[in-house]
Order: sequence, then structure tokens, then C-alpha cells
Amino acid sequence: MTAGNGPVCISVINMKGGVGKTTIAALLGRYASRVLGLKVLAIDLDPQANLSQAFMGERYRQFLSDQDPSIVELFNDVRLPVSKSPSPTVLDVCEIVVGGTRLGGPNLQLVPSRFDFSDRLIKSIDTDRTVLDKLIADHFQDKDIVLIDCAPTESILTRIAYHASRHVLVPVRPEYFATIGFPLLHESLENFKRENRGHAIDVAGVVINNWSYHYSGNEGGPERHTSIEEIRREAKKNGWHVFETELPYSRGFPKMMRGDLSYSGDAPLYREFAKEFFNRLGIGKKR
Ligand SMILES: Nc1ncnc2c1ncn2[C@@H]1O[C@H](COP(=O)(O)OP(=O)(O)OP(=O)(O)O)[C@@H](O)[C@H]1O
Ligand SMILES: [Mg+2]
Repeated sequence: MTAGNGPVCISVINMKGGVGKTTIAALLGRYASRVLGLKVLAIDLDPQANLSQAFMGERYRQFLSDQDPSIVELFNDVRLPVSKSPSPTVLDVCEIVVGGTRLGGPNLQLVPSRFDFSDRLIKSIDTDRTVLDKLIADHFQDKDIVLIDCAPTESILTRIAYHASRHVLVPVRPEYFATIGFPLLHESLENFKRENRGHAIDVAGVVINNWSYHYSGNEGGPERHTSIEEIRREAKKNGWHVFETELPYSRGFPKMMRGDLSYSGDAPLYREFAKEFFNRLGIGKKR
């Protein structure tokens, strides 16, 4: 967690896969930077690199073939040897940040990820769990918010995200076994809090991402209602807030995930959710 008036840091986490973590991180990043006029840093902490692909689109292929530095280099503290320069060199943090017109707006910057991230992480001994926290404290105090997109499995990366975060946002899909990841997340957060008593971190809320029912051409019937009830019950057990606005299926979402930057992410219910989310955190329009 960054000190003083630094950015508000939010991790998007659910130990269940495919629930909309990356989609919602991308949409909140766009909304905050475009609609609220906030300075946003997005950090892709998932080796699947979906957030990087969503924000960079076709440029992501170029980024890979240019062997540009990414979050992998941040963890190694050096620019790894590549064919262009065969020996490791000291990393300049500016090198790992992608932004400006490459992301379709001046207020949004991204620390991209790469598929070899977990492989390299496993090989590096003694990974500093506060590496992201330090990165933000040392280089990104001018940001208003930092959004961290996490992988669906608990690992050292989850711990690294907690160390850097004030809030956790939990997307969930109303389906059979919807809340399977809740106890694990709850326990993992409680353990973290016990071990890091000076660090304030809370679940900002659970957001219901309804998309599958609209996608399959129906409203979900009783199963949808049963699982929404289950989500509310299980969230309550943990003392987690559930956001009122449920996200609908949106054709624009996957389009944006493919890097189609023409979608500005302001479908009415999405806007509603983003407003509700940032209001809850006490974050408003910059000007
Ligand atoms: N509300 C929605 N409307 C339409 N499609 C959606 C919606 N939410 C998610 N999707 C689609 O569902 C798929 C999974 O979403 P996403 O990648 O955001 O999930 P995730 O939780 O980040 O997955 P992972 O656990 O693999 O990181 C993507 O193809 C995404 O475009
Ligand atoms: Mg994801």
C-alpha cells in the first residue's frame, strides 16, 4: 500500500477463472481514465497477459517480437538478455511502461505481462513480495489509481498484489459453484492481514457479472436466481459488500478484449457499475 496521498490501489481477484476479472479491470481502467479524467496505471500480474492484449491489441504481437521489457524484467530487476543486446542491463522503470496513444488515451499507462512470467518467477529465488508496492511508491505517486489484474490461482503473485493494494474487487458469475473461490480468498486475505498488521486492505465488494445467461439467449431461469442468492449469502458471511449494479452481457466487452479500441466501455449498466464502484471508494471526477 502506498503511503500519503499516493494512488488508490485496487486488485481484481477471484480464485475462480473466467469470471470477468480482466474484462472488469480493463473497463474500470478505461472509465477512470476517459470519463473521470484520472491518471491510471494498470498492472498485468497474470502470465496469461490478457489485460496487456486487451489494452495493446495488435500492438501486443509487436511488443512480443520486439522483446520489449515487461513485468518479468521488473521481477528480475534487469533487462534480460535478448538477441538485440545479449547481456543483461540495468532496468530503467520507464522502459516497462506502455502508454499514451499506444493505449488509446493520454491518462492510461500499463505495465504489460508476458507468457514466460510464471516460469521466470518460479526460477527466481527470494522474490521480494513488496516489489509492486515499492514500484508504485518510488515511481507512480502521481497516479490517481492503480488497477492490478490477477491470475485465477493463488500464488506468490497474489501476495505481491495484496502488498500493493488497499482494495480488492471480486467479480463473480452467477452459475453453479459460483462462490467456490470465496473461502480461499477470505482465508488468504485474513492470513495476509494477520501477518501484515500495519497494512489496511479490504474487499471493496463483489460484482455480479451476468454475461453467460444473455450470451446463451436466456435470463438464466431459477439457477441464476439461486446462485445470486448464494453469492449474497456467502459474501455476507465474509462481511463483503455486493454491488447493486449487475453487469449484463455486452457484445462490446469481448471486442474490447481483442483490442478494438473503438469501444469506449460506456454501455449504460457498465457506466452505472463504474460510478457505483468509484463512489464507494470515494473517487470522483478530477475536473
Ligand atoms: N459481461 C460480459 N459480456 C460479454 N462477455 C464477457 C463479459 N464478461 C466476460 N466476458 C468474456 O468472458 C471471457 C472471460 O472473461 P475474462 O477474461 O475477463 O475473465 P477472467 O476472470 O479474467 O479469466 P481468467 O481467470 O482466465 O483470468 C472473455 O472472453 C470475456 O470477453
Ligand atoms: Mg484474466
